[in-house]
Amino acid sequence: MLLYERLAGELRTQIAQGALHAGERLPSIRQLAQGHGVSVATAVQACLQLEREGLAVARPRSGYFVRAMALQPPTARSPRRRAPGIVSNPALQNVLDMLARSDLLPLHSATPTPALLPQSALTASLARCLRHGASAALDYAPPQGHLDLRRQIAQRYAQVGAAVAPDEIVITAGAMEAINLALRIVTTPGDVVLVETPTYHGILQTVAALQLKVLEVPNLPGQGIDIARLEQLQQQNTVRAAIVVPNFNNPLGSLTSDVDKQALLESCAQHGTVVIEDDIYGELAWSGQRPSPLRRWDRHGIVISCGSFSKTLSPGLRVGWLAGGNWTDALIRAKYFSTVGSASLPQLAIADYLQRHDLERHLRRLRRTLADNGQRLHEAVTRHWPAGTRASEPQGGLSLWLQLPAGGDGSALFEAALAKGIGTSPGVLFSSRGDYADCLRLSCGLPWNERLDHALKRLGQLAAHQLG
Ligand SMILES: Cc1ncc(COP(=O)(O)O)c(C=O)c1O
Repeated sequence: MLLYERLAGELRTQIAQGALHAGERLPSIRQLAQGHGVSVATAVQACLQLEREGLAVARPRSGYFVRAMALQPPTARSPRRRAPGIVSNPALQNVLDMLARSDLLPLHSATPTPALLPQSALTASLARCLRHGASAALDYAPPQGHLDLRRQIAQRYAQVGAAVAPDEIVITAGAMEAINLALRIVTTPGDVVLVETPTYHGILQTVAALQLKVLEVPNLPGQGIDIARLEQLQQQNTVRAAIVVPNFNNPLGSLTSDVDKQALLESCAQHGTVVIEDDIYGELAWSGQRPSPLRRWDRHGIVISCGSFSKTLSPGLRVGWLAGGNWTDALIRAKYFSTVGSASLPQLAIADYLQRHDLERHLRRLRRTLADNGQRLHEAVTRHWPAGTRASEPQGGLSLWLQLPAGGDGSALFEAALAKGIGTSPGVLFSSRGDYADCLRLSCGLPWNERLDHALKRLGQLAAHQLG
């Protein structure tokens, strides 16, 4: 056994036996090194090992803490078994209209707050592109997108073992346009598509706009997509496409394992289902270990992979992409008919940023902060919310999913919070027919501060009041 493994083992035992409590600070790296007669590097490795196992979390400038996910996970429920149907959920419009206010504490917004994004470096890249290449920056981009950017994206796929050529990447206005184009070229109105439940409401809106029927496959807290149910649904129905978020489902933050990802692909290949993978959170693993996209195992050529810089660099620049595989030509044509091409300046600026800066360094910091925010939100819910509240244990992404105790109403809590200037996302948004009425999603994109603690306390009081 290596030295760091031995030290990690000792700390693991102390945590298991309660000598180190949930939420407590681990001894500092220096203390660990001196106390155990090992080098600083070994002590760091031991802490990183505990972090990978989900037992410890690093807080910037404060050290390592024992992870305190004290709340029970949301109950896994088998969703109502419904025949394929059109999305019918009035909340999708009503709630989003109500959230269109700029004065809210944005706990509803699954985006890192601007301070967590490299704003000055991106501003410099935008200025540089205008100063030194105004003609290109102000001209139409090719429908497929600028080659420099497509090359950079292909390189990132290569780093996670997925062979994607720059030639099959199509730049889009965020992941939303990517999903929309993919659905438009593989489906016709009335087709049946599989979506997860719960899932991101934007996917539901796109599917509704294209008049597709949905079947819902559960995404289980802490486990990911229910592969047995996915197979069963495909045996019972003709499914044209599956739109899935295996890496850190929004809202659960769950990760589908590599084994299940491969089983999903085999099942879909066998039933002739096109897989539209939304990998927008793949870079935001709280452990720091980027999980593979489905595209890595796409030996049947059935995957269209969608990605975006919205959650890592800037949501406002609206730069996303498709790795189109067998559908690349059709996707380029669809992109051309849709918007001719995405705006040049944001593409060139992101390519410039990626060339000049260490994206990985920025991501390391961002992931740590998000993990820390998630941990603190979880702790605050433990402290301030009614007993019996349940919470997901996100492994990445930007969301914490909460389930209120029996009798709790996520939509009523959403409205009460809105009246106090706090934005949240009610659970009813995350399914085709408004299920999850007792749930609420909070964003982990806001750095922890007193205002946030106060808001969590207020939300807990409102939830308690509701329960009487
Ligand atoms: C799962 C998922 N897909 C897509 C999007 C939209 O991404 P973009 O801003 O790149 O269009 C979001 C945004 O919250 C999301 O959570």
